[in-house]
Amino acid sequence: MDLDQVSKEAQQAINKCRDLSELEETARHYLGKKGVVTTAFSQLTKLSLSQKKSEGKKLNQVQAIIADQVKQKEKDFKENLFQSQSESKIDISRPGKKIKLGHLHPLTKVVREVEDIFQLIGFSVVEGPELETEYYNFDALNIPADHPARDIWDTFWIKKSKPKQKKNLLRTHTSPNQARYLEKNQPPLRIIVPGMCYRHEATDRTHGFQFMQIEGLMVDEQVSLANFKAVVERFSQMFFGPDAEIRIIPDYFPFTEPSVEVSMRNKAGEWLEIMGAGLVHPNVFKAVGYPPYQWQGFAFGVGVERLAMIKYGLDDVRQLYQGDLRLIQQF
Ligand code: PHE
Repeated sequence: MDLDQVSKEAQQAINKCRDLSELEETARHYLGKKGVVTTAFSQLTKLSLSQKKSEGKKLNQVQAIIADQVKQKEKDFKENLFQSQSESKIDISRPGKKIKLGHLHPLTKVVREVEDIFQLIGFSVVEGPELETEYYNFDALNIPADHPARDIWDTFWIKKSKPKQKKNLLRTHTSPNQARYLEKNQPPLRIIVPGMCYRHEATDRTHGFQFMQIEGLMVDEQVSLANFKAVVERFSQMFFGPDAEIRIIPDYFPFTEPSVEVSMRNKAGEWLEIMGAGLVHPNVFKAVGYPPYQWQGFAFGVGVERLAMIKYGLDDVRQLYQGDLRLIQQF
């Protein structure tokens, strides 16, 4: 067998291949089990020892050359394939892929909007702790341990690690920040304090055991309920629009006197309570060490979920805490 001839033919055949399957076929023809080269190897046995040596060496070389050429050709095919595929895939007239952006939770949006509005009318935003002491959550707010009004706030108490330790709790409202802020700052002052609150009670359509409140506090030499009414009307119109209707009726809180409840109409036309409020009780000023009757103020605590319910027409506050994207993504 003329090995030079075989090698030449093989090279031509490989070059002629138009695709991978033709190349495979050709490779098999030369290098496969019954291929030309393999058959030549098996015929070496018929030769003399010295011929075996030289022919065998040559055959090895030819086999290596063919294998090399097949490999090279295969590489060419694969590169071309990749190129032609990627060329055909780029359609510059196609609209781009939309990048998905996250967005704010409706409650976060409400809080930020309320903050913006109150900042416009001269209030600063401050924060206080969620883990509160019994003192700030109750005592400083004119609710001593034996006061029946403590029942209004079903409380998650924190277990004491030492018997003498003061009692801690998850704040049941943002009102402790009235005392906290008054202790450290000098009136005149205007603040709002947004934050999460917790109550150990059954949930329903309008109550969660966890909810957000925004406390408001304005203290000056002369502050009346009329000032409160003006602020809350202004706020509701800015938040809900010029037609927003509010209703103020008497209520009771130990830390305000007089106390009121503010309600708004929801989309169904029903009144829904959105906040408790009133004039700061003299005992609160006393608890923070102010001289009696020097300052006056109003305070309020507005329910963030209630605002969201009215603004977005939700009928169950608990939906806001279930992480259901079908709901959340609507806002
Ligand atoms: N903290 C009261 C509540 O959660 C609301 C309130 C705040 C009432 C401020 C009066 C003044 O029920």
